[in-house]
Amino acid sequence: MADLSRYLSIGDFRQAARKRLPRAIFDFIDGGAEDELTLRDNRQAFERIRVLPRVLNDVSAPRIEGELLGSPVRAPLVVAPMGSCMLAWPQADIAIARAATAHGLPYTLSTMSTTSIERMARAVDGCLWFQLYVLKDQAFNLQLIDRAQAHGYRALVVTVDLQAGGKREKDYRNGISIPLRPSWRLMRDGLTHPAWAWQLLRGGLPTFENVAGYGGMADNGLPIAARVGQSLDDAFDWDKLARMRDRWSGRLLVKGVEHPEDARRLVAMGVDGIWISNHGGRQLDGALATADALPMIAQAVPGVPLIIDSGVRRGVDIFKARALGAAGAAVGRAVLFGAAVAGEAGAHRALHILIDELKLSMKLAGAPALADLNPEWVLR
Ligand code: FNR
Repeated sequence: MADLSRYLSIGDFRQAARKRLPRAIFDFIDGGAEDELTLRDNRQAFERIRVLPRVLNDVSAPRIEGELLGSPVRAPLVVAPMGSCMLAWPQADIAIARAATAHGLPYTLSTMSTTSIERMARAVDGCLWFQLYVLKDQAFNLQLIDRAQAHGYRALVVTVDLQAGGKREKDYRNGISIPLRPSWRLMRDGLTHPAWAWQLLRGGLPTFENVAGYGGMADNGLPIAARVGQSLDDAFDWDKLARMRDRWSGRLLVKGVEHPEDARRLVAMGVDGIWISNHGGRQLDGALATADALPMIAQAVPGVPLIIDSGVRRGVDIFKARALGAAGAAVGRAVLFGAAVAGEAGAHRALHILIDELKLSMKLAGAPALADLNPEWVLR
């Protein structure tokens, strides 16, 4: 693998991705909705939490391995579902999934990935989860669930915070779409970012493989988020989720939860885990930062596995999340920036950085094992 040791932090990868990618692609990955309040606050909420270190504990071998929703993990970390990744790097989904597998972590394939459920299952011998965006056509949703079940995906993650496409104004201004439409801007992007353009042409133009047969996804000139939003079932409710629960025999997580009352009701109806998320600030601008939502939810559903995403950029964020009651954290952009710079090797290095930082935080905080952590290790 390429030597990427000069990349010391996720921030380094973000800077390099900014240089390598055309602006429209970088903005699509990096940006948030409207004024990006939630995007910024997600980060600040993690930064506001302070660790209260302990001393004189044997921290020679920090214990970070365990189990997440029935899947063994070497660190409490999972890759969040991301659509359209092939805009950043050829076969980026597979590259990221292989990197996650090499680290002993689950990878969540998005409904809107540029790799189909089947192709991913063939390409990667690791722990795969499948994320469902609930489309208007219920029969199609059930088909997707059945396909994931048939191909050995271990958990189903139903995303519920995208009933309409978030208003990402950068994407509107940049006119980003899949399939990429020929335009002067695209040609200019290609000429000014030749390495990116060459790889994109060689790797094949990205399409939404999972929903290839779905009529509702007609290309109508809207940016990606708006187009996906238009196809989603905005009438999806508790009864429909209950039917999905019956259909899927594996672990079921619901992603996009921030209210403790919703968490309680979901657990009561048989959901196995709650994925606290505001979509990385890409949906409702003004939504609560997830690190602020976590303690309320942990209190509402004690003992229930919680995953938190949105704003995780440092290993110490995973430490803080565990202390506040999460079973694990999920990362989206952190790993995609790595893949955007150097494909599988970049994704691998990004995950390595986070895991290394987590272990170092534990040593410096005097925490021998993640299992020892509780809210007394942090101050908010
Ligand atoms: C996403 N996210 C997302 N979520 C989801 O449930 N299905 C999806 O298809 C996508 N697609 C997607 C694409 C891109 C480019 C990004 C950056 C994000 C949201 C994702 O799963 C996760 O919630 C956030 O990325 C978490 O925030 P961080 O880690 O990026 O700060």
